[in-house]
Amino acid sequence: MNLYEILKPLLFRLDAEAAHHFAIGGLETAPPFLLRAIFGDAPMLERRVCGLKFRNPVGLAAGMDKNAVALPAWEAMGFGFAEVGTLTAKAQPGNPQPRLFRYPELQALINRMGFNNHGADVVAARLDRLKASGRWPRIPVGINLGKSKVTELADAPADYLHSYRALLPYGDYFVVNVSSPNTPGLRELQDKDALAGIVRTLRDHDAAKPLFVKIAPDLNPPQLDAILALVESENISGLIATNTTLDHSAIPQGRDETGGLSGAPLRCRANEVVRILCAGTRRPVIASGGIMSGEDARARFAAGAALVQIYTGFVYRGPALIREIART
Ligand SMILES: Cc1cc2nc3c(=O)[nH]c(=O)nc-3n(C[C@H](O)[C@H](O)[C@H](O)COP(=O)(O)O)c2cc1C
Repeated sequence: MNLYEILKPLLFRLDAEAAHHFAIGGLETAPPFLLRAIFGDAPMLERRVCGLKFRNPVGLAAGMDKNAVALPAWEAMGFGFAEVGTLTAKAQPGNPQPRLFRYPELQALINRMGFNNHGADVVAARLDRLKASGRWPRIPVGINLGKSKVTELADAPADYLHSYRALLPYGDYFVVNVSSPNTPGLRELQDKDALAGIVRTLRDHDAAKPLFVKIAPDLNPPQLDAILALVESENISGLIATNTTLDHSAIPQGRDETGGLSGAPLRCRANEVVRILCAGTRRPVIASGGIMSGEDARARFAAGAALVQIYTGFVYRGPALIREIART
């Protein structure tokens, strides 16, 4: 039995967000050598994507380490890369609690966190200290950016730019997140002109680092076509597909919550979106959504994904899932 199987029943007795903070707090303070000793050597299955070297294709999805407090721990547990954020220009508390709900029988979560985060400047200072300490992880670090809640949609490009400037020295790649369902209006930024405006603003400032766009699973075929066209016209490095879904048809009546659904019920749709995108572009697609097993990851790679990311699968399966995927 692995350590996570012992810890999980204890964590699952806590409220979902309390368990999250407890686990992140532990990972923030645990010495990486101890995590390495507990979880074993990182699996190796090397990939090169956008000029970056990944020791294995399994990444931590955005939202788990919003404030970049546990980067050495993600490397020590075996991840091939880690994406921090979503970070916004202004620090913000997110939505009122409770805002994270488990559905163990469905292997699913619903969240309406609302981009709770310390803000780009505070996190830039934290990352600077980490660099100076010599504890910077030897895996690619992605930085996921979103729009501050108080910023009008029309002012989104400047808001993203503020975060991008502050965090530019620390990310190996950046992500424009326009797909969280929990910031009012954010998904409207998936519209062609709005998204082009954000991407151009960031690229005009600095085009040296790979820039991905993270999309929702709920886009219809014409919307996916428009994103694919934009990828080429704006020279976007690649796509992350997908974020959480607003399709709650899997949730039993009376138990639904407002927010984005993740985990096993997202599996089929997320795979389908990856397949459509990979058929329409040669640029890398990072698959996220409903990857709960090695078999799920195999399906994403078969659909054309270059890399995969896990969030809900990591909550239900722990670090063993990283190794199961990397063995596939
Ligand atoms: C509690 C929670 C918080 C999340 N926060 C973010 C976020 O801040 N930014 C983001 O791009 N995605 C966020 N996500 C979405 C995940 O990164 C991932 O794309 C999604 O959950 C689908 O993958 P999964 O089925 O493996 O969880 C969050 C997901 C969960 C469950």
